[in-house]
Amino acid sequence: KKRIFSGMQPSGMITLGNYLGALKNWTNLQDDYDCLYCIVDMHAITVRQDPVKLRKQARDLLTQYLAVGIDPEKNTIYYQSHVSQHAELGWILNCFTYMGELNRMTQFKDKAAKHSDNINAGLYTYPVLMASDILLYQTDLVPVGEDQRQHLEITRDIAGRFNGIYGETFKIPEAYIGKVGARIMSLQEPTKKMSKSDENKNNTILLMDEPAVIMNKVKRAMTDSGSEIRHGEDKPGITNLLNIYCACTGKTMEEAEREFDGAGYGAFKTAVGEAVVAELEPVQKRVKELEKNKDYLDEVIKYGAERAGKLAARTLTKVQKKVGFPPVI
Ligand code: TYM
Repeated sequence: KKRIFSGMQPSGMITLGNYLGALKNWTNLQDDYDCLYCIVDMHAITVRQDPVKLRKQARDLLTQYLAVGIDPEKNTIYYQSHVSQHAELGWILNCFTYMGELNRMTQFKDKAAKHSDNINAGLYTYPVLMASDILLYQTDLVPVGEDQRQHLEITRDIAGRFNGIYGETFKIPEAYIGKVGARIMSLQEPTKKMSKSDENKNNTILLMDEPAVIMNKVKRAMTDSGSEIRHGEDKPGITNLLNIYCACTGKTMEEAEREFDGAGYGAFKTAVGEAVVAELEPVQKRVKELEKNKDYLDEVIKYGAERAGKLAARTLTKVQKKVGFPPVI
């Protein structure tokens, strides 16, 4: 079986963007691939986190992975900080990554602008740790949203460079970016992406938002001038809602546009809101069920770290030998 690796930061409550751009695809891939789904808590501390909250958010993310249908019997689910090889390979790969490359990362530039009081070295080398996550497992495919494309490219560059110097060591991974849902935008500012760290709560739909809250947020979403319901660059608000609708219902853009031909914005928004609720409500119910089962969650995360650790050790040992570290006797 080919291998898949992906991860999510426990840096806040996850959004409809995380769900449609990543999580939903993960569940569809689990039967055909050997998948590792990581909760990347080490990445999360590149911006300041409250420790109590961080621990809770990591646990919530675990519950949500399971609730969307990622089966822990078929997939490996674990916390990044439980598998020390990520940090160890991260260090080595830092020495094969150029500052010039890191300077070009748009996510770093955005985050540095936003957290100008804490532009730490971890934030800067974030993509190298991400490359380590992926390369440790000889990954074939990485299912992510559009915003991670540049990080996948640098991962491929680092892997190719290392292989060029030391001979075949890492598999060169490919990004898997879905056709719909790969770039869900903010509801009030539909030219920027929906983000879990957004301070304006009307911009994001959270995976755990109550149905009434979801309906309200969709109804208040920014729309565009004109009354037509169609996609297009001149219609970022409506395009975003159409995308959300398609990603939730499985309909194509053409089907959706035909369905709402001649309808008003009000009726359209109600339909979008209902589609989101229909998609998220069953997930929310399962989250509440799973939360009661502490022992089961502990079991999943313990088993996941063991399996991931074994796989990671194989690659790391190979890398340590190649770069010339003395063997452990
Ligand atoms: P993170 O935690 O920001 O986001 C998790 C996943 O959600 C996708 N995503 C979106 N998709 C569509 N529309 C949006 N508005 C939207 N916002 C977020 C992201 O593309 C991502 O797939 N660097 C990663 C975490 C990571 C990782 C990895 C991913 C660390 N190591 C190794 C893959 C492989 C991140 O910040 O994701």
